[in-house]
Amino acid sequence: MSFKPGGYYVRGVVILVVAVLLPAGCADSQAAKVAAAQSETVWLSSLEVAKMSSGWGKAVVGKSVQNQELSIGGKKFTEGVGTHANSVMYIDLKRAAKRFSAYVGVDDEVDGNIGSITFKVFGDDRELFDSGIMKAGEAAQKVDVDLSGVKTLILLVNSAGDGINYDHADWAQAKFEVVGAQPKAMDRPKEKAVILTPSPGPEPRINGPKVFGVRPGRPFIYRIPATGKRPMTFAVSNLPEGLKLDSQSGIITGNVPGQSGEYVLSLKASNGHGSAERAFTIVVGDTLALTPPMGWNSWYIHYNRVTDQNMREAADAMVESGMADFGYMYVNIDDCWMKKKQDEPYRDENGAVLTNAKFPDMKAMTDYIHSKGLRAGIYISPGPWTCAGYVGSYQHEKDDAWKFAEWGFDFLKYDWCSYGQIAKDRSLAELQKPYQQMGDILKTLDRDVVLNLCQYGMGEVWKWGGQVGGHCWRTTGDLGLSPSFMQIGLSNARHYEYAQPGRWNDPDYILIGWVGDAHQMGEGQLTTLSPNEQYAYMSMWSLMAAPLIYSGEMTKLDEFTLNVLCNAEVIEVDQDSLGQQGRIITQTDEELILAKDMEDGSKAVGLFNNDELDRKMSIKWSDLGIKGKYRVRDLWRQKDIGEFTDQYEGKVSRRGVIMIRLFPVR
Ligand code: GLA
Repeated sequence: MSFKPGGYYVRGVVILVVAVLLPAGCADSQAAKVAAAQSETVWLSSLEVAKMSSGWGKAVVGKSVQNQELSIGGKKFTEGVGTHANSVMYIDLKRAAKRFSAYVGVDDEVDGNIGSITFKVFGDDRELFDSGIMKAGEAAQKVDVDLSGVKTLILLVNSAGDGINYDHADWAQAKFEVVGAQPKAMDRPKEKAVILTPSPGPEPRINGPKVFGVRPGRPFIYRIPATGKRPMTFAVSNLPEGLKLDSQSGIITGNVPGQSGEYVLSLKASNGHGSAERAFTIVVGDTLALTPPMGWNSWYIHYNRVTDQNMREAADAMVESGMADFGYMYVNIDDCWMKKKQDEPYRDENGAVLTNAKFPDMKAMTDYIHSKGLRAGIYISPGPWTCAGYVGSYQHEKDDAWKFAEWGFDFLKYDWCSYGQIAKDRSLAELQKPYQQMGDILKTLDRDVVLNLCQYGMGEVWKWGGQVGGHCWRTTGDLGLSPSFMQIGLSNARHYEYAQPGRWNDPDYILIGWVGDAHQMGEGQLTTLSPNEQYAYMSMWSLMAAPLIYSGEMTKLDEFTLNVLCNAEVIEVDQDSLGQQGRIITQTDEELILAKDMEDGSKAVGLFNNDELDRKMSIKWSDLGIKGKYRVRDLWRQKDIGEFTDQYEGKVSRRGVIMIRLFPVR
């Protein structure tokens, strides 16, 4: 038994004395005094702090996130918790806590750097405290809130809308006054993985892009993406000479005409339940990837374990899971198909790059992928070594490009990696050089190869990626190594003016379902993203006209993951022929609104709630430059919500999205 202030033994004595001395009639004040006497201090740091999330590193007991003495605006604190935006902690108070108090602010360890954050405290959906934006160096703010009757408390730290750099956040001297049950850190409440999208009907529906770019006379392969019950029969009218259709599989193959021009086809799919027809234009000319590429990449699940067999299985799964019926078509191998540094020789006597033992026959592999009506992609670096330490194309650029074409690849991811050792400096000329070189070589090949620049956004690649021959370019570092898809998505979102048909900003892959741990190139596990976050992720990528490249385990696609990846109306927003990347209408800490003009005059809008609580959000017609009555359709549920004038308001789930499309009512 201790005599620590607030300890049970001390309280017991006080209660006894009070009860004996106070006369009847003073019951109320007596109760108040008893309560006050019973109250006990519980430090936030004594709870299970591992349950507080941290946007960088992890939450630390009694110290800053970098393990220094807690310090805000020059004042030191001996108690508290240090964390980093974005951070959240749920605490079960069991209605027994009376008050919560703390001093909050940016920790002085960021020393001159521009950290800015907001602290919020919520009690059962009610905001109890909002610090407003707090910057590095500012004095701590005092939090002191009444918790009477509150069941669940949420402590939140946001990045104040400017990214999480240097957002070291302190909950100093944070404590509860409690009577009775002890507060307990909780797991973030789990959402049910609700499947929002109705399954496709048995009748045919043709999906995928409406336009497709091919260079004159080049080989063409296209599996008409159509949902509906099999067997299905396909027909195409106006098929240009040189192309043929397999009416059972719906795969078009052959070579497109040597003449530039637009060939407007009509695709038809029929089965016992009905038929569907849709126009599809093959644009023979200079521009490939008229809509963002869709497919799968091996990196985030197979890493250096990748094999020929994995690639074939991915192709099988793309068809069998139905993904191909929604337009997914590229089956792309990432790093690690070539020889490693220690495994000389890397090339044959003619300079042709050699594969490692896990890829015995590349041509047979691409033939297999093509036999399904899909396309094959490959990866290499312009430097001497790839990022994972396998051989790169340096001084063999032409050999490699020709080899890739001979093997039958249709897509190349060209990853900067060790080219940093070759480049003289980081001038624009040096950054562009390897990509310009490869872009030029690819144009001389006898097959189309879509070029994906991977150099993490250096030199504002969005401004010149298209000029050097790229069709899409990563705008950021690796998503798998980043704390959140939202952060990567937001940096990509800013470059919306630069996207257009044949030129896409690439925020990296869709990492949901069964995916590997990027930090350790680990085996797969089920994503830790909540269902709401997964809907938000796919909506954001589609509104940004991003390449839709899934990079999880294709042989373990569950129903929920497929429902997120395969909603025809959401994908239609991504694949729209106008090729606009959604622009940012609103961006605050809690809210993001993206809006995209569609070719048919409709507007696609995403209302993203980045907060821990559901919130009402609205989009005003004036922000979209429109007036009058619009039919609003919920794209995830594929259901009309109603007709609205002036604005639409809806309740958006925490960390979730409402994705809608507005059609003018004439
Ligand atoms: C870089 C890229 C990743 C992946 C790896 C492979 O990190 O950004 O997407 O290709 O290299 O080593």
